[in-house]
Amino acid sequence: MKPRPAARLYRGTPRNLAFLARRLRAGELVAVPTETVYGLAANALDASACEKIFQAKGRPAHDPLIVHIHSLAQLATLAEVNDAARQLAKKFWPGPLTLVLPKKSTVPAIVTAGLPSVAVRMPRHPLMRRLLRLCVHPLAAPSANPFGYVSPTTAGHVRAGLGRKIRFILDGGPTTIGLESTIVDVRDPRRPRLLRPGAISREQIEAMLGRKLFSAGHRPLKNAPQPAPGLLARHYSPRTPFILHKKISAGLVAKSGTTEAWLFFAQPHGLAGPNIFWLDAHGDARRAARRLFGLLRILDGHGFEKIHAELAPGQGLAEAINDRLRRAAGLGHG
Ligand code: TXA
Ligand code: MG
Repeated sequence: MKPRPAARLYRGTPRNLAFLARRLRAGELVAVPTETVYGLAANALDASACEKIFQAKGRPAHDPLIVHIHSLAQLATLAEVNDAARQLAKKFWPGPLTLVLPKKSTVPAIVTAGLPSVAVRMPRHPLMRRLLRLCVHPLAAPSANPFGYVSPTTAGHVRAGLGRKIRFILDGGPTTIGLESTIVDVRDPRRPRLLRPGAISREQIEAMLGRKLFSAGHRPLKNAPQPAPGLLARHYSPRTPFILHKKISAGLVAKSGTTEAWLFFAQPHGLAGPNIFWLDAHGDARRAARRLFGLLRILDGHGFEKIHAELAPGQGLAEAINDRLRRAAGLGHG
């Protein structure tokens, strides 16, 4: 078989956006920037276009996709909307929040992995918004990485992972949030469930709804449609063995050789070396979140025997950072 041509990066010029929208309308895949992570997009209303997403990512058919929209009018064509969803959408859209609602028949079964519900979000990234407008139809898009690996936060990450499987990448620069969207199941407005923590925090959503969020506690049965995202034990995982600590102590680091990497949350005092890293010098959670996936990729490429990391302190965005660290360590939720 002839090797496929490598993917090309497109800047967000009006001409390129019009071209990429035509590719999407014709049923092709385009990797797209969002404020969270890059997505691998297809026309959400075209089942055979969405089938290509699963092939390119090596994603199992039981893992449903998120549908991206540009207007509230579009939401009503895809899902049964209730007051809780309207409230959250009004407050947090466009933005890094995905709502799970009962689906309408317009959404092909492949998008939702046969589930009666659909996950929808209105992204905030300006290029993605322009592309969605030009496409007219909504775009189904999971993160643009091979299944199970760390999500991409730059166009270069997308090319490194999927460069031989796709042809078009819209380059919108590094993503500003760096973690995937918060997912909330609001099918039952009296029992809203947090399926995945993200930059819109549990506390913000609870304040808006005026009630507590339930958590997606347990793991699904193997091969059953996933009730919640990424509950497979390993997800967002580097290939290097990844060990999570509540807090890393200087003593622990001193006992290890330089073949093991140590990833601190903030810059550690009195420790330095080629195997010492930190997410943000001052321990700022937003900047730490933005850097996390890129740094995991860099560490993974360094040939360290092990990567050690410590949990982020506090609530809010720390919950989302720690969720990704746990998954990288194969610990799932907790
Ligand atoms: O920020 C994001 O959410 C990014 C950007 C591209 O929008 N997307 C993303 O998609 O991270 P990803 O790879 O996490 O895949 C979508 C997740 C899946 O893990 C899936 O389990 C969950 O959303 N999901 C989709 N439909 C669902 C549904 N009906 N019920 C519960 N979870 C659903
Ligand atoms: Mg993903």
